[in-house]
Amino acid sequence: MGARTPTEKPPARLIEQFRAVFREDPEFLVRAPGRVDLIGTHTDYNEGWVLPAAITRYAWLAVRELPTALITLHALDMDEQVAFRLTDLEDRKALNGQPLPRWAQYAAGVAWSLQEAGLATPGSQIMITSDVPVGAGLSSSAAVEVAYATAWAHIVGWKVDRMKLAQLCQRAENEYVGVNSGLMDQFTSLHGKPGHALLFDCRTLEWEALPLPEDISLVVADTGTRRQLTDSLYNQRRAECEQAVQALREYLPDISALRDVTVEQFTAYRDRLEEPIRQRAEHIIHENARVLAAAEALKRGDVITLGHLLDESHLSARDLFEASGPELDAMWEASQGHPARLGGRFIGAGWAGCLVFLAKAGAAEDFAAYTARRYEERTGISPSMSHMRTAGGAEVLEDWA
Ligand code: GLA
Repeated sequence: MGARTPTEKPPARLIEQFRAVFREDPEFLVRAPGRVDLIGTHTDYNEGWVLPAAITRYAWLAVRELPTALITLHALDMDEQVAFRLTDLEDRKALNGQPLPRWAQYAAGVAWSLQEAGLATPGSQIMITSDVPVGAGLSSSAAVEVAYATAWAHIVGWKVDRMKLAQLCQRAENEYVGVNSGLMDQFTSLHGKPGHALLFDCRTLEWEALPLPEDISLVVADTGTRRQLTDSLYNQRRAECEQAVQALREYLPDISALRDVTVEQFTAYRDRLEEPIRQRAEHIIHENARVLAAAEALKRGDVITLGHLLDESHLSARDLFEASGPELDAMWEASQGHPARLGGRFIGAGWAGCLVFLAKAGAAEDFAAYTARRYEERTGISPSMSHMRTAGGAEVLEDWA
């Protein structure tokens, strides 16, 4: 299977179905992109660095304001509808008294987080659809959170900056949905820039857009597998990183996150840590150094070094952080040996889902077909390969007709 390019136009069905379900036109649309993280596996919640790029896969909303404190939410892809009051979000209950389904908790969670920050959320009718696959490592959750926050900010006209909105969306995911994710995904969905990757310092919140060379393609390989029980594994990894900080404090009392530990310091004390804490910390500390090296390579246009760093990241995340999975590894191995291949790694939290590969632009199609064929031979699964184009941050579309 070759690579395909996804569409960027508002999905016609979204508008048609909004009219059919709510019997009115939407007032505006919102789109918020997913992302690929070129490098920086699990570094964000360790207050380190990441290098993601927003992609032209979006969570889309069609929205109409309501005069009551009620959200009516229709999920087009599942054809499910739920309504909830904005006045008792803590209950996590729908208007009919049933527990809110997980997909609706993202909306309720963002509304809750905004309210906690003193930002009143307006009642609205919302239809949602997304072409960011769920559980694939392309940040489907952050895309929907950011879409809701952008919609409500637009209605109310808040003067809240994008970084603050990203943090409020992260809080919704951490405290309402219950996944202790870092800030990378929400940040990227709000700050994406076409043709660029974003070097983001997750502690200082400083960031820089770095142009991606035109002679490389980003090929996203979807293994066709989806994470299960990943939230608990993810939270466990985060806890292990915190244990590593506690253990290292005995020798390095001034550190407050793994971000503070240099490779040299770690080398001096690594043998004092117990497994698996030693492995987890080793991955994070070296991964932070790799992200900074990758950013430097990108600035020099050195795509060979960049590719090698992606491969090292995959191996470290696989062997030390134990966040890969059999199909992710099968795809990484299937990609080996093609002359256009520069490097690649799994993206997002891991365990299943997608990888990103850097390939020489002229031969990326051939590379994608080669990798897909070899992956299918090994696993029996027909994968989906996409050329990913980089995207701008979340936006409101009023002139969509
Ligand atoms: C998920 C989380 C991010 C980040 C990555 C791993 O995508 O949402 O915050 O931790 O996993 O790098």
